[in-house]
Amino acid sequence: MLKKLIAQGAEAKLFLEDNKVIKNRFKKSYRIKEIDDRLRNFRTRREAKILQKLQAIGFPAPKLIRNDEKENLVIENIGGKLIKDILEKNNCKKLCSEIGTKIAILHNNIIIHGDLTTSNMILNKQIYFIDFGLSFFSEKAEDKAVDLHLLKEGLESKHYKIWEGCFKCALDAYRKEANKSSETLKRLEIVEKRGRYRARKGS
Ligand SMILES: Nc1ncnc2c1ncn2[C@@H]1O[C@H](COP(=O)(O)OP(=O)(O)OP(=O)(O)O)[C@@H](O)[C@H]1O
Ligand SMILES: [Mg+2]
Repeated sequence: MLKKLIAQGAEAKLFLEDNKVIKNRFKKSYRIKEIDDRLRNFRTRREAKILQKLQAIGFPAPKLIRNDEKENLVIENIGGKLIKDILEKNNCKKLCSEIGTKIAILHNNIIIHGDLTTSNMILNKQIYFIDFGLSFFSEKAEDKAVDLHLLKEGLESKHYKIWEGCFKCALDAYRKEANKSSETLKRLEIVEKRGRYRARKGS
């Protein structure tokens, strides 16, 4: 079966083979080898673990098919378009409400995504979240607030014409669905005052 490169991200190459996606975290030669191996291995295992949990709760994310090698993850191919490419042309408020609701579901299951951008969401029949390499389990208001703040930063930079309305819709939906949402949103105000948070994957 033909293996086709579909994306090259900051830390991984994504291939489509046999209608499955292979996510290969490639070596970073500028990192010390031992640290690089450990980091790639850790992120791959963590992503696998979160995907399994998401499957168990029925959250729309790729199913884990295989995690046999340290740096390779084989996952379900989610057909559709990246939210990044369609947000402007579609009913962005409706999409963003759905995004807010889905973030609330993640948080209610103590999952922090860690990289909530519109490049990590795919619209199929509903919105699927992908790219859980920076995700972790936490119940802290601080971690949830930073997650929401990253969504805001991503919207601001990639969708600067519509970001305000989008973010408001996402937050309104989040408020309705999330447990302890008033605590998280209060925390978000504190986080906003402190400045930038985007985790640097390349580092
Ligand atoms: N399960 C999937 N089904 C379909 N496409 C996918 C899937 N997983 C990843 N992709 C595609 O590959 C791209 C990169 O994947 P991913 O975000 O997981 O890797 P990444 O290295 O973190 O990339 P980036 O640094 O761009 O965020 C996605 O934006 C998407 O276009
Ligand atoms: Mg990504």
